[in-house]
Amino acid sequence: MTDTASLLLNWYDKHHRILPWRITPAEQARGMAPDPYRVWLSEVMLQQTTVEAVKAYFNKFTSQWPDISALAGASQDDILRAWAGLGYYSRARNLKACADKIMAGHGGVFPRELAGLRALPGIGDYTAAAIAAIAFNLPHAVVDGNVERVVSRLFCLTTPLPAAKAEIRIRTQGITPAERPGDFAQSMMDLGATICTPKRPSCFLCPLNEHCLALKNDEPQRLPLKAPKAEKPLRTGMAFVAISENSRVYLQKRPEKGLLGGMSEVPNYFAPGADKADLSRAPFATDWRYQGDITHVFTHFTLVLAIYRADNLPEHSDTGGWWVAVDKLKGEALPTVIKKAVAQVLPTAFNNTERKPADRNA
Ligand code: ADE
Repeated sequence: MTDTASLLLNWYDKHHRILPWRITPAEQARGMAPDPYRVWLSEVMLQQTTVEAVKAYFNKFTSQWPDISALAGASQDDILRAWAGLGYYSRARNLKACADKIMAGHGGVFPRELAGLRALPGIGDYTAAAIAAIAFNLPHAVVDGNVERVVSRLFCLTTPLPAAKAEIRIRTQGITPAERPGDFAQSMMDLGATICTPKRPSCFLCPLNEHCLALKNDEPQRLPLKAPKAEKPLRTGMAFVAISENSRVYLQKRPEKGLLGGMSEVPNYFAPGADKADLSRAPFATDWRYQGDITHVFTHFTLVLAIYRADNLPEHSDTGGWWVAVDKLKGEALPTVIKKAVAQVLPTAFNNTERKPADRNA
């Protein structure tokens, strides 16, 4: 084992974070082993979402569906409803597809090898390596954003991201130990999250400070360098909150494929350069009243929606949607952008619901 690995593992034994999906070193010493189902579920949730935001969702999912066969028994709609607010909804659809495939094709048991894991829906290089290392204790390099930062600094890598990714992976592999690779991967993540932070890292507390080339060269907070990002394109449009004479809100389901596929929504329309006052885009003709704009930042574009409201509508059933009482909206599979649109009209509709994720893309 390299010095780096043993210093880091010693630090992890004392300073690891307590996380609901984690088996701590002390628990491992008492014979507890990681459950691949929980490792997989947490890693999928953590792919594009912060640890803080994931905790409550992870607890909800594992109490509702404690193992892979329970999850495979759930409908996609149930899973999307439980996922609502976490963002990147293709993850929820892949979760169901992956659970089905493990039940049907793998006898309910996760494959251990990278290639077998990589062939499952929603599992890419990162997640395959994380599951193999954390659940099966195989010495694979697990490189997320935190690890990219730690390794760039440790080796003072000055190639900007994303071009630096290959070198970072090779360097990470080079320090990954054969013993405790799962704990090692998580120690790198914890170091990045708590000490080797993007701004003002706490180098004086770092177990690797005597080995860190960026610190030796003076400016760890400068690294990793990043290629400049292109500005996000803007899309504009409208969302329509229709309220019935029984105080129920009109919802419809999005197509299964594409952005927010299979989720529920209030009617809306958007496109690059779309007119935010074009009421011919409304789902039906009525007295629509403008309620202000909301903005939501997606991964690939920023969306500005003008919100319109109509009241006292008859509950027609010929337009493909359905009507939901305001206090039942929390239970619907509404993505965060749609919750924002509804809250513009009904500000208390989502109060006292699950914690909102910090993730801007949710
Ligand atoms: N981020 C991604 N995977 C993680 C894990 N297993 N522990 C902490 N942070 C993570």
